[in-house]
Amino acid sequence: MSRMQKRSFGLGVVAISTALIGSPILDKDPLVWISIPQDAQIKSPVSLKTALTTHGLSLAQVPTSQILPLSHWMHETYHRCGGFFYESSLEEAREAIEHPVAKTSLSYAPQANVAISPLLAQVKEESIRTTIETLAQFQNRLYSSPHGVESQKWVMQKWQEIAAGRNDITVELVSHTGYIQPSVMLTIRGLGNPNDIVVLGGHGDSILSTSRDPEIRAPGADDNASGIATITEALKILVGNTIRFQKTIKLFSYAAEEVGLRGSQDIAKSFRKNNLNVKGVMQLDMTNYAGSPFDIVFMTDYVDTNLTTYLQALLKTHAPEIKWTTDTCGYACSDHASWTRYGYPSSMPFEARMNEDNPRIHTTRDTLDMSKGRAEHAVSFAKLALAYLMDLGGGEISLDQ
Ligand code: BES
Ligand code: ZN
Repeated sequence: MSRMQKRSFGLGVVAISTALIGSPILDKDPLVWISIPQDAQIKSPVSLKTALTTHGLSLAQVPTSQILPLSHWMHETYHRCGGFFYESSLEEAREAIEHPVAKTSLSYAPQANVAISPLLAQVKEESIRTTIETLAQFQNRLYSSPHGVESQKWVMQKWQEIAAGRNDITVELVSHTGYIQPSVMLTIRGLGNPNDIVVLGGHGDSILSTSRDPEIRAPGADDNASGIATITEALKILVGNTIRFQKTIKLFSYAAEEVGLRGSQDIAKSFRKNNLNVKGVMQLDMTNYAGSPFDIVFMTDYVDTNLTTYLQALLKTHAPEIKWTTDTCGYACSDHASWTRYGYPSSMPFEARMNEDNPRIHTTRDTLDMSKGRAEHAVSFAKLALAYLMDLGGGEISLDQ
């Protein structure tokens, strides 16, 4: 971020007006608000209508059709410093940036939970692989395509199937305004402190950087069928062992991450509005490509430091063989940033160091081939997710079904 900070005007509000480049704006192509680092806004090759710049971020309008070219350009140009938030209005965006929600600061300490280790041993590569394969077989999982709706319904059904027979578990679709893809939310009601919530999520959508045709092929095996498959495996093991929790657990397959973290922003915002008590968020976005000599890379920006340190301590206790390191995304690269924005402690364990991640994401070739047809790398993430849910959520084996 240092490069960006140097180029920005620092604090305060600077009004900038940028001429609209490109095609005239038609009604069919409505303008949407985004926030984008100021240096990117200045250099952007796509039409941006900037209203104001504050805290190094520009609030600008972009035609809907230009979102994908913008995202593509950001990836090509700034490997560490791109990304943008979709904003529902100028006022709300300005408020979020200039008056960030007070951050909840919690301290975490691993409990001596003996039920954890036997669960980690049950994680199966094959079962993660099968879910990745099924999700990657949808033509695409685009936020604006019927395939993106179908794929989320499949996730809902899969989670319902796993949770069948448990009256403390509900699975529902969460609809959003402005696009057809829903998010999926699974809730395991807590027995002791049901108002305390522990979140594990990933995005269910996929994207192709070069086209927004609803029929385009966008398998997204690593980005992010891998994250959803990892979460699904953790759920399967929890239910298979009749685990019940003290806190309430929520699992998400978010909609529309690829177009500005839209689904997760909606959700985190409504949690804040209802003052829900979220004790931790883990984001799993890309878990199955072994690009670095590490099993897990913890991102350290747009996350909560205490929570991240706690996850590392959990690994030390329950899975000391897992090799991890840290790195930064350099921008709000995934849904953990939505939770951070609304003041919740979040974390982002990632598959590789930045720039050593899967080079085929957002292409038609983001398939399992890049992981030698296997889901071995994702296994460590399923173990971490299980340790996190069990320890923070207070999971225990329950005798009654
Ligand atoms: N999975 C990626 C994020 C990612 C890619 C993290 C490579 C680390 C390395 C995510 O789905 C994505 O593409 N995010 C967008 C940002 C979003 C705000 C539109 C991106 O990185 O451009
Ligand atoms: Zn992703």
